[in-house]
Amino acid sequence: METILNIKEVSKQYKSAASSLTILDHINFSIQRGSTVSITGPSGSGKTTFLGLCAGLDRATSGSVELNHVVLDQLSEDERAAVRNRYVGFIFQNFQLLPTLTAIENIMVPLELRGEKNIRPRAMELLDKVGLTDRANHYPVQLSGGEQQRVSLARAFSNTPAILFADEPTGNLDGETSEKVIRLLFDLNKEAGTTLVIVTHDLELASRTDRIIKLKSGVIIADEQKTYA
Ligand SMILES: Nc1ncnc2c1ncn2[C@@H]1O[C@H](COP(=O)(O)OP(=O)(O)O)[C@@H](O)[C@H]1O
Ligand SMILES: [Mg+2]
Repeated sequence: METILNIKEVSKQYKSAASSLTILDHINFSIQRGSTVSITGPSGSGKTTFLGLCAGLDRATSGSVELNHVVLDQLSEDERAAVRNRYVGFIFQNFQLLPTLTAIENIMVPLELRGEKNIRPRAMELLDKVGLTDRANHYPVQLSGGEQQRVSLARAFSNTPAILFADEPTGNLDGETSEKVIRLLFDLNKEAGTTLVIVTHDLELASRTDRIIKLKSGVIIADEQKTYA
Protein backbone atom coordinates (compact mmCIF):
# COMPACT_ATOMS: atom_id res chain seq x y z
CA MET A 1 0.00 0.00 0.00
CA GLU A 2 1.20 3.46 -0.90
CA THR A 3 0.36 6.67 0.90
CA ILE A 4 -0.93 9.40 -1.41
CA LEU A 5 -1.82 11.96 1.23
CA ASN A 6 0.03 12.42 4.48
CA ILE A 7 -1.02 15.05 7.01
CA LYS A 8 1.16 15.62 10.07
CA GLU A 9 0.21 17.80 13.04
CA VAL A 10 -1.76 20.16 10.84
CA SER A 11 -3.37 23.17 12.52
CA LYS A 12 -5.24 26.11 11.07
CA GLN A 13 -5.85 29.30 12.95
CA TYR A 14 -7.44 32.57 11.98
CA LYS A 15 -5.92 35.44 13.86
CA SER A 16 -7.30 38.90 14.28
CA ALA A 17 -6.07 41.72 16.47
CA ALA A 18 -8.45 40.70 19.23
CA SER A 19 -8.41 36.93 19.11
CA SER A 20 -7.12 33.73 17.58
CA LEU A 21 -9.55 31.10 16.38
CA THR A 22 -8.37 27.50 16.06
CA ILE A 23 -10.24 25.80 13.23
CA LEU A 24 -8.12 22.63 12.94
CA ASP A 25 -6.12 21.36 15.86
CA HIS A 26 -3.06 19.13 15.28
CA ILE A 27 -4.56 16.72 12.80
CA ASN A 28 -2.73 13.55 11.80
CA PHE A 29 -4.09 11.58 8.91
CA SER A 30 -3.04 9.59 5.88
CA ILE A 31 -4.75 8.05 2.88
CA GLN A 32 -3.77 5.09 0.76
CA ARG A 33 -3.63 5.45 -3.01
CA GLY A 34 -6.78 4.22 -4.71
CA SER A 35 -8.94 4.23 -1.58
CA THR A 36 -12.21 6.09 -1.01
CA VAL A 37 -12.72 8.12 2.15
CA SER A 38 -15.56 10.26 3.42
CA ILE A 39 -15.32 13.05 5.97
CA THR A 40 -18.42 13.84 7.98
CA GLY A 41 -19.15 16.18 10.87
CA PRO A 42 -21.41 19.02 11.93
CA SER A 43 -21.49 22.30 10.07
CA GLY A 44 -18.58 24.49 11.15
CA SER A 45 -16.43 21.55 12.29
CA GLY A 46 -13.68 22.41 9.79
CA LYS A 47 -14.39 20.00 6.93
CA THR A 48 -14.06 22.50 4.09
CA THR A 49 -10.98 24.05 5.66
CA PHE A 50 -9.43 20.59 6.02
CA LEU A 51 -10.18 19.62 2.42
CA GLY A 52 -8.71 22.91 1.18
CA LEU A 53 -5.46 22.24 3.06
CA CYS A 54 -5.26 18.65 1.79
CA ALA A 55 -5.80 19.79 -1.81
CA GLY A 56 -3.26 22.60 -1.64
CA LEU A 57 -5.93 25.29 -2.11
CA ASP A 58 -5.03 26.78 1.24
CA ARG A 59 -2.09 26.69 3.61
CA ALA A 60 -1.86 25.33 7.14
CA THR A 61 -0.75 27.57 10.01
CA SER A 62 1.54 24.75 11.17
CA GLY A 63 2.20 21.12 10.37
CA SER A 64 2.94 19.34 7.12
CA VAL A 65 0.92 18.25 4.08
CA GLU A 66 2.43 15.79 1.62
CA LEU A 67 0.41 15.15 -1.53
CA ASN A 68 1.49 12.50 -4.02
CA HIS A 69 5.03 12.69 -2.57
CA VAL A 70 5.19 16.49 -2.88
CA VAL A 71 5.54 18.43 0.38
CA LEU A 72 3.30 21.49 -0.02
CA ASP A 73 4.32 23.46 3.07
CA GLN A 74 6.98 25.73 1.58
CA LEU A 75 5.56 26.03 -1.92
CA SER A 76 4.45 29.37 -3.36
CA GLU A 77 0.90 29.96 -4.57
CA ASP A 78 1.97 29.31 -8.18
CA GLU A 79 3.84 26.14 -7.29
CA ARG A 80 0.81 24.81 -5.43
CA ALA A 81 -1.39 25.66 -8.41
CA ALA A 82 0.93 23.61 -10.61
CA VAL A 83 0.74 20.66 -8.22
CA ARG A 84 -3.05 20.89 -8.19
CA ASN A 85 -3.24 20.99 -11.95
CA ARG A 86 -1.07 17.88 -12.21
CA TYR A 87 -2.50 15.71 -9.47
CA VAL A 88 -5.74 17.08 -8.05
CA GLY A 89 -9.38 17.23 -9.06
CA PHE A 90 -11.87 19.24 -7.01
CA ILE A 91 -15.67 19.25 -6.95
CA PHE A 92 -17.50 22.00 -5.07
CA GLN A 93 -20.96 22.09 -3.56
CA ASN A 94 -21.86 25.10 -5.72
CA PHE A 95 -20.23 23.65 -8.89
CA GLN A 96 -17.96 26.68 -9.53
CA LEU A 97 -18.04 26.46 -13.29
CA LEU A 98 -16.70 29.52 -15.08
CA PRO A 99 -19.84 31.43 -16.12
CA THR A 100 -18.36 32.93 -19.28
CA LEU A 101 -17.32 29.55 -20.70
CA THR A 102 -19.52 26.85 -22.23
CA ALA A 103 -19.74 23.33 -20.77
CA ILE A 104 -17.11 21.97 -23.15
CA GLU A 105 -14.81 24.95 -22.56
CA ASN A 106 -15.05 24.49 -18.79
CA ILE A 107 -13.89 20.90 -19.19
CA MET A 108 -11.04 22.01 -21.46
CA VAL A 109 -9.58 24.47 -18.92
CA PRO A 110 -7.46 22.01 -16.88
CA LEU A 111 -6.21 20.41 -20.10
CA GLU A 112 -5.29 23.78 -21.55
CA LEU A 113 -3.43 24.70 -18.37
CA ARG A 114 -1.37 21.56 -18.79
CA GLY A 115 -0.49 22.59 -22.32
CA GLU A 116 -2.05 19.49 -23.83
CA LYS A 117 -2.93 19.30 -27.50
CA ASN A 118 -6.09 18.02 -29.16
CA ILE A 119 -8.09 18.69 -26.06
CA ARG A 120 -11.53 19.15 -27.58
CA PRO A 121 -11.97 15.43 -28.44
CA ARG A 122 -10.88 14.47 -24.93
CA ALA A 123 -13.33 16.98 -23.43
CA MET A 124 -16.13 15.69 -25.71
CA GLU A 125 -15.40 12.13 -24.57
CA LEU A 126 -15.80 13.24 -20.94
CA LEU A 127 -18.97 15.13 -21.71
CA ASP A 128 -20.31 11.97 -23.30
CA LYS A 129 -19.48 9.97 -20.16
CA VAL A 130 -21.58 12.32 -18.06
CA GLY A 131 -24.39 12.17 -20.64
CA LEU A 132 -24.27 15.79 -21.77
CA THR A 133 -23.05 15.63 -25.36
CA ASP A 134 -26.01 17.72 -26.49
CA ARG A 135 -25.17 20.44 -23.96
CA ALA A 136 -21.59 21.08 -25.09
CA ASN A 137 -22.17 24.68 -26.14
CA HIS A 138 -24.45 25.70 -23.31
CA TYR A 139 -23.36 28.12 -20.61
CA PRO A 140 -23.67 27.22 -16.90
CA VAL A 141 -26.75 29.45 -16.45
CA GLN A 142 -28.48 27.42 -19.14
CA LEU A 143 -27.93 24.18 -17.20
CA SER A 144 -29.74 22.74 -14.18
CA GLY A 145 -27.83 22.17 -10.92
CA GLY A 146 -27.47 18.46 -11.65
CA GLU A 147 -26.19 19.17 -15.16
CA GLN A 148 -23.71 21.73 -13.86
CA GLN A 149 -22.40 19.22 -11.34
CA ARG A 150 -22.03 16.61 -14.09
CA VAL A 151 -19.97 19.11 -16.09
CA SER A 152 -17.86 19.76 -13.02
CA LEU A 153 -17.34 15.98 -12.62
CA ALA A 154 -16.13 15.82 -16.21
CA ARG A 155 -13.83 18.79 -15.55
CA ALA A 156 -12.47 17.20 -12.36
CA PHE A 157 -11.60 13.97 -14.15
CA SER A 158 -10.25 15.66 -17.29
CA ASN A 159 -6.64 15.82 -16.08
CA THR A 160 -6.85 12.21 -14.77
CA PRO A 161 -6.09 13.34 -11.22
CA ALA A 162 -4.27 11.10 -8.78
CA ILE A 163 -6.66 12.30 -6.09
CA LEU A 164 -10.10 13.84 -6.23
CA PHE A 165 -11.64 15.97 -3.48
CA ALA A 166 -15.39 16.60 -3.39
CA ASP A 167 -16.87 19.05 -0.89
CA GLU A 168 -20.55 18.17 -0.34
CA PRO A 169 -20.97 17.40 -4.05
CA THR A 170 -24.69 16.71 -3.64
CA GLY A 171 -25.41 19.42 -1.06
CA ASN A 172 -27.30 21.61 -3.54
CA LEU A 173 -29.12 18.83 -5.41
CA ASP A 174 -32.43 17.09 -4.85
CA GLY A 175 -32.57 13.40 -3.94
CA GLU A 176 -32.99 11.87 -7.36
CA THR A 177 -30.39 14.13 -8.99
CA SER A 178 -27.99 13.44 -6.12
CA GLU A 179 -28.27 9.74 -6.70
CA LYS A 180 -27.46 10.17 -10.39
CA VAL A 181 -24.43 12.37 -9.66
CA ILE A 182 -23.12 10.00 -6.98
CA ARG A 183 -23.43 6.97 -9.21
CA LEU A 184 -21.55 8.85 -11.92
CA LEU A 185 -18.87 9.95 -9.46
CA PHE A 186 -18.22 6.39 -8.30
CA ASP A 187 -18.33 5.00 -11.84
CA LEU A 188 -15.84 7.54 -13.18
CA ASN A 189 -13.70 7.04 -10.10
CA LYS A 190 -13.60 3.29 -10.51
CA GLU A 191 -12.73 3.58 -14.16
CA ALA A 192 -9.91 6.05 -13.48
CA GLY A 193 -8.64 4.34 -10.30
CA THR A 194 -8.56 7.72 -8.56
CA THR A 195 -8.25 8.21 -4.81
CA LEU A 196 -11.48 9.84 -3.65
CA VAL A 197 -12.04 12.07 -0.61
CA ILE A 198 -15.64 13.23 -0.10
CA VAL A 199 -17.01 15.63 2.49
CA THR A 200 -20.67 14.85 3.02
CA HIS A 201 -23.59 15.03 5.42
CA ASP A 202 -25.21 12.17 3.57
CA LEU A 203 -24.61 8.99 5.57
CA GLU A 204 -25.84 6.88 2.68
CA LEU A 205 -23.13 8.39 0.48
CA ALA A 206 -20.53 8.05 3.23
CA SER A 207 -21.37 4.37 3.63
CA ARG A 208 -20.25 3.76 0.04
CA THR A 209 -16.64 4.69 0.82
CA ASP A 210 -13.96 2.40 2.32
CA ARG A 211 -13.46 4.63 5.32
CA ILE A 212 -15.35 7.26 7.30
CA ILE A 213 -13.62 10.05 9.24
CA LYS A 214 -15.60 12.16 11.69
CA LEU A 215 -14.50 15.71 12.44
CA LYS A 216 -15.74 17.75 15.36
CA SER A 217 -14.50 21.17 16.43
CA GLY A 218 -11.35 20.76 14.37
CA VAL A 219 -10.27 17.34 15.61
CA ILE A 220 -10.79 13.82 14.28
CA ILE A 221 -13.10 12.04 16.72
CA ALA A 222 -13.59 8.81 14.76
CA ASP A 223 -11.88 6.95 11.93
CA GLU A 224 -13.66 3.83 10.79
CA GLN A 225 -12.46 1.45 8.13
CA LYS A 226 -15.17 -0.51 6.43
CA THR A 227 -14.97 -4.18 7.31
CA TYR A 228 -15.84 -6.56 4.54
CA ALA A 229 -17.80 -9.55 5.71
N1 LIG B 1 -11.47 32.88 6.30
C1 LIG B 1 -11.96 32.60 7.52
N2 LIG B 1 -11.78 33.45 8.56
C2 LIG B 1 -12.26 33.17 9.79
N3 LIG B 1 -12.94 32.05 10.09
C3 LIG B 1 -13.15 31.16 9.11
C4 LIG B 1 -12.68 31.37 7.77
N4 LIG B 1 -13.04 30.31 7.01
C5 LIG B 1 -13.73 29.47 7.83
N5 LIG B 1 -13.78 29.99 9.08
C6 LIG B 1 -14.42 29.34 10.26
O1 LIG B 1 -13.87 28.04 10.41
C7 LIG B 1 -14.84 27.15 10.91
C8 LIG B 1 -14.89 25.92 10.06
O2 LIG B 1 -15.40 26.25 8.78
P1 LIG B 1 -15.53 25.18 7.62
O3 LIG B 1 -14.21 24.55 7.38
O4 LIG B 1 -16.17 25.86 6.47
O5 LIG B 1 -16.51 24.11 8.28
P2 LIG B 1 -17.47 23.03 7.61
O6 LIG B 1 -17.07 22.84 6.20
O7 LIG B 1 -17.27 21.80 8.45
O8 LIG B 1 -18.85 23.55 7.76
C9 LIG B 1 -16.15 27.92 10.98
O9 LIG B 1 -16.35 28.32 12.30
C10 LIG B 1 -15.90 29.10 10.08
O10 LIG B 1 -16.65 30.20 10.48
MG1 LIG C 1 -18.10 23.07 4.41
